[in-house]
Amino acid sequence: MEQSLDTLKIQCESCQKCSLGATRTNLVFGTGNANAKLMFVGEAPGEQEDLSGIPFVGRAGQLLDKFLYAVDIERKDVYIANILKCRPPKNRDPLPEEEDACIGYLREQVRLIRPQVIVCLGRISAMRMIKPDYKITKEHGQWVQKGNFWMTAVYHPAALLRDPRKKEEMLEDMKRIAEKLSELNPKE
Ligand code: URA
Repeated sequence: MEQSLDTLKIQCESCQKCSLGATRTNLVFGTGNANAKLMFVGEAPGEQEDLSGIPFVGRAGQLLDKFLYAVDIERKDVYIANILKCRPPKNRDPLPEEEDACIGYLREQVRLIRPQVIVCLGRISAMRMIKPDYKITKEHGQWVQKGNFWMTAVYHPAALLRDPRKKEEMLEDMKRIAEKLSELNPKE
């Protein structure tokens, strides 16, 4: 069978490559537009995501939705996934071996969706997707071109809940992401 997001999701649903497979309620594969030009990559599911099987539906996700709305991007037009597909206990940071076990699924999602722009949500995602020594405070909003993709990172929305002063910078970064998409897709 030819690989599609649906067949990949089915494979992923029985995954036991790391110990998180035993503790998940639901696998959180990713949701959104399979032809999205813009893809967001978070860290790992939290409690609400584990319960629902959908990424970014808890408080952090609701804040992300507000920023998308503020720059006129509709959630249905983007694709949202995480580095890890299963929730780490008590939302601890992903372990390197969990990332290594899971990253192949994300690579395959990126290969199938072929977005123009990939936005890492937070430090953990940026360190895995952009470079291991990524400094989110210093480097958020900067663009790098990797292969066929434009990539950047923004603060994780959970970090904005902890420190609302960062919201202004987030809005600026989100505006630049919307501008980048317009530049890459000029209207005739
Ligand atoms: N935080 C993440 O990084 N991903 C989610 O899906 C939810 C919260």
